[in-house]
Order: sequence, then structure tokens, then C-alpha cells
Amino acid sequence: MMNFFPSTLRFIALLPIATVAMLYSGILFVLYSNATPGISRTAINVLTQRYLCHSTGIKEDLAAQKFIRSGRIKCLSATAMDIIIAAGIALENVTGFTVVSVPIDSNSPMALLPFRFKFFEQALDEELDTIEQIVVLGAGFDTTTFRPSVVQAAGRRNIKIFEVDNPITQQVKKEVVEKSGLNASHITFVPCDFEKTSWLEALSHCQEFKSKARTYFLWEGVMYYLTEKAVRETINTVATEFPAGTSLAFDYFRLDRFARRYLWAMRLYGEPLLSSIDTRESQDFRETLDDFISERSDGKMRITKQGSYQYFNQGDFGGVIKALVA
Ligand SMILES: C[S@@+](CC[C@H](N)C(=O)[O-])C[C@H]1O[C@@H](n2cnc3c(N)ncnc32)[C@H](O)[C@@H]1O
Repeated sequence: MMNFFPSTLRFIALLPIATVAMLYSGILFVLYSNATPGISRTAINVLTQRYLCHSTGIKEDLAAQKFIRSGRIKCLSATAMDIIIAAGIALENVTGFTVVSVPIDSNSPMALLPFRFKFFEQALDEELDTIEQIVVLGAGFDTTTFRPSVVQAAGRRNIKIFEVDNPITQQVKKEVVEKSGLNASHITFVPCDFEKTSWLEALSHCQEFKSKARTYFLWEGVMYYLTEKAVRETINTVATEFPAGTSLAFDYFRLDRFARRYLWAMRLYGEPLLSSIDTRESQDFRETLDDFISERSDGKMRITKQGSYQYFNQGDFGGVIKALVA
């Protein structure tokens, strides 16, 4: 009760300015992303979620904070985001409902990305003592390769790190990293469009890349933006060109469970959802997942870790996987 009135006053004071900040952020996003054709909007969206996680204490991500505060991603205003987050936290204090600082294990859709971030963080940390290389496919503005545990392991064990992404988004990321003042000397940036060129071919031009080394592939937030052909090639290449102990971590959606309006919205957004792991009748979904991996990996890979999205108790509409080359 004691805290109710100051919180309410704080929320009332922040509401108009947060409304302006939201409008400003929306306009900035549309103007800038249209002015930079080819940049991945969804990659920027994921970065804002990483920043939100950091700002609300859900998950530390100093690199995301530095990326956004660098000012180089011109469609994002750190100040506007800070105001919106402050208003969200004030609203939480008034109502007692979580709005922005949603716990990872809650069933709110706001927890989907934090859950995904946590899964991939753990999936990689489990491998840091054994792998020789990390390849991030479709890296966007991911901050994994700047995480202290990854940087330390890379230094200690001489793990080579490669970020592969669409050339336009990657160029912006390189500028963002430079402006953030972060050290990226442990990362090799490799531009590649997965629909036009083989990523293995692109990587093979890098002096430090070893095609026969035990590798951790992170393919986060990418699979569903690719055609089935590119998805199949990626899984098959990991399975057939890399040694046992190599793993591939990725997320998927069950698009057969999505409303058509959502698929249309993504099309309008410019990044349509193209690939899915769909329900197969008379089959347990775990079997469907196993078959999906097995069929594309010539039976060489098996799932070793898995989680599914269960939000609003609507049932499983996607999830996260780590699959190992046996
Ligand atoms: C939703 S973002 C995810 C970014 C990042 N992995 C993360 O989790 O923050 C999708 C990423 O896939 C990349 N991508 C999509 N289609 C691609 C393609 N055909 N070739 C290369 N990269 C692609 C985009 O450039 C973008 O960085």
C-alpha cells in the first residue's frame, strides 16, 4: 500500500512520455528499415528482446545493451526503449501483473524469446570443453559470441568462432560492433545468402575454418525463414561433412497450428515463414521431430536436448532442439 501511490504517480507521469516514445519508435523503425533494403527486421526485433531481458534483469546481456546504445542501428532509440521499459515496470508495480519482466518459466508469450535464449545458452555452454569451432548461422545481432563464458573458452581452448549472415545485415552488425567498442578479434564474419550459396563453401574460404573439426552450429531464429531445400541442405551438410560430436541447435515452428493472419503478417513484414515441422497424423510429435532430423541427416543425427513452446496453455506450437552427429 505504502508503495502504491508513488508507483501510481510514477506510472501516470510516465504514461504520456512512454506513449510518445512508442509512436516515435514505431515511426523510426519503419522509416529506417525501409531505407536499408535487405536488412533483417526480425534480427533487429530479437535484439530489442535481448535488450529488454538485460534491462529487466531476466538475463544479463551487456553486448545487447552496447549494440543498442551505440546508436548505429538507427531505427532503435535506446532512450525511447528505456522510457517504455520504465513505464512497463511502473505498471507492474501498480497492477501486480508482469508486463515486461516476465519470468522465463511463465506461460506468457513474452517468455518465448527469453526461454529460447536460455535454452541456446545452456546448449552451447555444455559443449565449450569439447568443441573446436562455433559457427553461428544467420547470426543477425545475436550476442552469443560476446558472452563472457564463450569469449573465455575461446581464448583458453583456441576455439574458432564464425558468424555467417546475409551480407547487408552482417555489414550493419560489423559497424555496430565497432561503434560499441566491443572486441571482435575472436570472430570471423562470413557473408553468405543461404538460398544462393552454400555456407560451407563460404566458410571454406576462411583460413582458420576446419571442415573436419568438431563444431557447434547455432541456427537460432533462422530455419523457418528458409526454403525446405536450404533447411535440408543445412542439416545434411552438418551431418555428413562434420565429425561425431558436432551439434546443431535450432528452433522451429509448427506452422500448421498458426492462424493464417499471422503468416500473412510475416509476409507483409518482408520475412515470410517458409519452413515448418508439421504435425503428422497418428504420430507422437517427438517421433515427428526424430524423423525430421533423421530423414535430413541420413540417419546420422539424433536429438539430445529439446524444449517446446507452451504459451497461454494453447499447446505446443514450436520449440527448440539440439541434435548431435553420432
Ligand atoms: C530472426 S533473425 C535471428 C538472428 C539471430 N540468430 C538471433 O537469434 O538474434 C533471422 C536471421 O536469419 C538471417 N537470414 C534469413 N534468411 C537468410 C538467408 N537466406 N541467408 C542468410 N541469412 C539469412 C537474417 O539475416 C537474420 O539475421
